[in-house]
Amino acid sequence: KLLDRTPKPLSGKTIIMTSGPTHEPIDPVRYIANRSSGKQGHAIAAALARLGATVRLVSGPVNIPDPEGVSVIHVESAREMRDAVEQLLPADAAVMVAAVADWRYANEANEKIKKHPGEKAPALQMVENPDILAGVGHSKLRPRLVIGFAAETQDLLINAQKKLDKKGADWIVANDVSHTKGVMGGDRNAVRIVTHTGVEEWPDMSKEEVAERLAQKIATALQQLEA
Ligand code: CTP
Ligand code: CA
Repeated sequence: KLLDRTPKPLSGKTIIMTSGPTHEPIDPVRYIANRSSGKQGHAIAAALARLGATVRLVSGPVNIPDPEGVSVIHVESAREMRDAVEQLLPADAAVMVAAVADWRYANEANEKIKKHPGEKAPALQMVENPDILAGVGHSKLRPRLVIGFAAETQDLLINAQKKLDKKGADWIVANDVSHTKGVMGGDRNAVRIVTHTGVEEWPDMSKEEVAERLAQKIATALQQLEA
């Protein structure tokens, strides 16, 4: 087989990504999680790699294989994900797709919490997790293109626009995760790309197609930033 030497649009570009859920420990055997499958993030990582990018993916616990052509760091908690992402900076772009737990249990126990029948059930006091996307978006080593996702069940566009500023992001890929849509864990996605200049509405398509299209859009944007 001949080597394909056609230059790819993202050759020489490094892109940091997060994907999947995080698991926040309660004790050695229990954790708090969410319904993210990692399908959308992993598909984007693979699509960026196909366009020639060096993709460094920090993945939470998922049940799908590592995307082809991508170097993957596996983590569990939000704090581990944040540490791994910080180590990977600088980069040309960051695409943060992970469904990072907003809170973690404040008093992680080193031993399994025992049940004492008749006693009060434990009250899980929570503390806020670091915002990984905001950390990257406001970093001294900020990539030229910073992209976040926004899972919303209501006021999709208003909430996504607020997140642009709060997170220091260039684009927010907004999707509706209200119960009826089955986005989380499902195979399809209808997204809107919210930027400082407007909103692009994409039709319902497979997560693979969303990934393909987003990777192309990222390649075009990085080329324009360079020109
Ligand atoms: N994100 C992150 N770290 C967090 C929370 C979110 O990096 N601790 C990132 C997600 O990966 C996503 C974006 O921020 O790219 C938006 O996540 P989302 O959960 O929609 O926003 P939040 O700011 O957490 O607000 P809320 O959950 O209240 O809507
Ligand atoms: Ca959140």
